[in-house]
Amino acid sequence: MKIVTVVGARPQFIKAAAMSRVLRPRHEEILVHTGQHYDPQMSDVFFEELHIPRPDYDLGISGGTHAQMTARMLTAVEEVLRKEAPDALLVYGDTNSTLAAALAAVKLHIPVLHVEAGNRLGSLVNPEEVNRVLTDHIAAMLFACVPSAMESLRLENLAGHAWLAGDPMLDAFHYYRGLGGDRPPETLPGIDGAPVRTPERFYYLTCHREENTRDDAPLTEVLLAMESLPCPTLYPVHPRNRAAAERLRRSLGLANVRLLSPLGYLESVALVAGAERIVTDSGGVQREAFFAGVPCVTVFDYAVWPETMVGHCNVLARPDRLDILNKLSVTPAWPVQASPFGDGHACETIVGLLDSDFRRG
Ligand code: UD1
Ligand code: UDP
Repeated sequence: MKIVTVVGARPQFIKAAAMSRVLRPRHEEILVHTGQHYDPQMSDVFFEELHIPRPDYDLGISGGTHAQMTARMLTAVEEVLRKEAPDALLVYGDTNSTLAAALAAVKLHIPVLHVEAGNRLGSLVNPEEVNRVLTDHIAAMLFACVPSAMESLRLENLAGHAWLAGDPMLDAFHYYRGLGGDRPPETLPGIDGAPVRTPERFYYLTCHREENTRDDAPLTEVLLAMESLPCPTLYPVHPRNRAAAERLRRSLGLANVRLLSPLGYLESVALVAGAERIVTDSGGVQREAFFAGVPCVTVFDYAVWPETMVGHCNVLARPDRLDILNKLSVTPAWPVQASPFGDGHACETIVGLLDSDFRRG
């Protein structure tokens, strides 16, 4: 089969890295980078350290409103699809790149394969939810990471072309941790470029969601909570809120929170696994915390990954200093049964399903 894969954002590079290793020996893959994430530390670093093949097309589209970004991607991806005439389009997750590519493909009658289908938080106020729901409803094959996502697809009458395949993020976590992501480096890149020594004991923070960065209030609460903890917090800052994080560091006089540049994947998973506890609003980081057996507090209103919340391994908190500190003091009971995220071979399962069910039509 000839498959066009469209990626654009950091977590998609990681999933595509795991998938391309399995897909490419059996199928022809054309890789398209929309350009949604473009800073070297948000893009190039993943291609280099995860050995992702260079994109065949780099569309260079980023920024603007949701509509502007999605519209420009829609037009540009359509052009690529017309030229390449693939058998299918492969997309991951819930970014604007995902939705734009899926929409371009379905209008050209190119079957859409959606990996990480079915997650729902139940409110279209969240931009990622809009992207997920719409992509799921126009896709030809849906690959869910977890049972709760399969159940959502069933409730939306999509189960007839959905499969529980496991989570490619778990595949990546197992595979790449063995290639250097097992131990944090001695120093990390500070936000101003100067090296920051990795403390022996630390908390790991990521916070970048639109809901938490629209104004300074939520991030202020998160930073004040982390500042009061008994050991330092390492916080790689997404470019979306870099200016706000630096401003708040100065105005709040932070000394215990270390602002870092965005990290490579190997550094990030090493910090996840080495942390005392994690505070995040990232879908990927809360799963990695669960994979690594590190307690996590998710600063968000909704449980997008309910499987991580069994036994309080991952607990929701409001963007409120006291609530975050309370939730950080919860002692989780780790589940002993098999991982709800699969066996670390989701990509093999998905490619196997393409070979059997896609060909059958
Ligand atoms: C996007 C996804 C989100 C995902 C996240 C992963 C959507 C709607 N959201 O959110 O699901 O969790 O990626 O990190 O697609 N920017 C830079 N340099 C970069 C990348 C972004 O300066 O390399 C700036 C952009 O110009 C923009 C802002 O950061 O102003 C936000 O970027 P955008 O891609 O729109 O959304 P994310 O918050 O990254
Ligand atoms: N990550 C990274 N560098 C960082 C922060 C996160 O490589 O500085 C990794 C993280 O370990 C996880 C993925 O990026 O594998 C999650 O991406 P992100 O939080 O941007 O998006 P989300 O998962 O929320 O969609």
